[in-house]
Amino acid sequence: MPPPDRFAPLAVLAARPGAGRIAPLLADARRCARLTLTLDDLSLDLTRTAIDEAALDALLGLATTAGLDDFRARLFAGAPVNVTERRAAMHMALRAPDGTVLPAWHRNGPEDAAALAAAERARMRDFVVRVHAGELRGATGLPFTRVVNLGIGGSDLGPRVVTEALTMARADAPLAASFVANMDATALAAALAGCDPARTLFLIASKSFTTEETAANAAAARAWIAAALGESAVGAHFVALSTNLPAVAAFGIPPERVFGFRDWVGGRYSLWSPVGLVIALAAGWPAFQALLDGAWAMDCHFRDAPFAANLPVMLALAGIWHINAEHRPTRSVLAYDERLRRLPAHLQQVEMESNGKRVGLDGAPVAWPTQPVIFGEPGTSAQHSFMQLVHQGPAVIPVDFILAAEADHDRPAAHRALAAHAIAQASALAHGRSAAAARASLAARGTPPAEIDRLAPHLVCPGDRPSAFILFRRLDAFSLGRLIALYEHKVAVQGWLWGIDSFDQWGVELGKELAGGLEPALSPGGAVAGIPDPAAASLIARFRALRGEA
Ligand code: F6P
Repeated sequence: MPPPDRFAPLAVLAARPGAGRIAPLLADARRCARLTLTLDDLSLDLTRTAIDEAALDALLGLATTAGLDDFRARLFAGAPVNVTERRAAMHMALRAPDGTVLPAWHRNGPEDAAALAAAERARMRDFVVRVHAGELRGATGLPFTRVVNLGIGGSDLGPRVVTEALTMARADAPLAASFVANMDATALAAALAGCDPARTLFLIASKSFTTEETAANAAAARAWIAAALGESAVGAHFVALSTNLPAVAAFGIPPERVFGFRDWVGGRYSLWSPVGLVIALAAGWPAFQALLDGAWAMDCHFRDAPFAANLPVMLALAGIWHINAEHRPTRSVLAYDERLRRLPAHLQQVEMESNGKRVGLDGAPVAWPTQPVIFGEPGTSAQHSFMQLVHQGPAVIPVDFILAAEADHDRPAAHRALAAHAIAQASALAHGRSAAAARASLAARGTPPAEIDRLAPHLVCPGDRPSAFILFRRLDAFSLGRLIALYEHKVAVQGWLWGIDSFDQWGVELGKELAGGLEPALSPGGAVAGIPDPAAASLIARFRALRGEA
């Protein structure tokens, strides 16, 4: 017998006549109050959704009956909630204030995760302070002016969005930062163009220290330093951030230049760990600490607040409504802030690597859709690319809008205009434009009647297109930490409700394994063994022919 669809009652609610309408719900003050949640200056406005009070009650009921309370307690108790890898997911310990007690399962039993994190954080702080003070210098005695982070996936995306957000347009950043993730050698070459080896510090960020891309970039960077400054200079220019201390030692990095963390930190949750060292070097230690504090504020809220007032839980439930009740397989994230232009890329990993799964914790296929595809760009740029599709395309695509009320530049009018666009987009999606309104708009522009007939259908926007609106006072390190932690916990809640393991990523392994086997076949005169099928063989033959290596 197939497992029961726990989301079926929601789908029944979504199928009620008129249930997809949003605009009529916006006048319901009681509902709007229930769907506007706050944590200090941060608000999550879910009013522009088709979630009416019956749907909201059903969603909250689902969270209760699905045992979300118990899951949340086990998460914070450091239980091995990453079932397939038998690991805890205790990234919260990295942001807990000194002295907090938070255990996490490690190998065969619990360990004091917060104390371990605090000890490593103290070493990181000391290192950052000494680099900024010019006490730790390059091999030739010159102070560092640039830090290059070599890492991919979670060892790149989180640190990159945060560093960019906290240093963009800031003239007094202590060190310039570059990021190299791709194994395409162009990425490293581009990052190093114009860099002075004597003043460049490399961070090899890799939880596993076995990732092919990062190993290749680290070896190339090492050769670049050795060629410019001599082999003996290498030690002064490299730092490693990893859980795999034996592999780091084999690479030749001495223990005092290694910052470690445990396997209870998932790669995509590691920006708060030593993997975030680039943030502290580029934005300053106080900014990194404020980032952790902001995330911890969200951790405490998520841990303690009742579901109906809990921002991560409610954001998760709104997503469940859109995916499992209304069957919307896509979502867009629009941060109206240039500093957050890499946020969609980070959330793509946090969400899609975490919850892009089709089997449950017991290995059996789940009976419902899980993670939607997400994509995004900063507003207003997005309005000039894909928002046409979001307003008028055949598919309904829920949107997350993100906006700070205050800017950090000296053009307040420009920020008001930006905010007007964000709010206008959310309203336009909800209300749309009727045929009558389209005709009236054309008439007001003096359009001749025949032209009105011809053009009006093209101006109609169906409306009833949902969005969440996240608003806070300022984008600073604290609010950014809070924002990213909001999404992390939302992902954990959704993963639990879908019955999947949000903390593993087995799907990325297959392609890596195949690539290793194919490399010989791509070399001149290489063996043809290991080619998966005739189509791949033909593709490889064409690749080699184009390189004159047939
Ligand atoms: O793509 C798979 C993955 O394991 C991610 O989960 C991870 O963030 C990335 O590779 C990099 O891994 P590492 O930090 O171990 O180099």
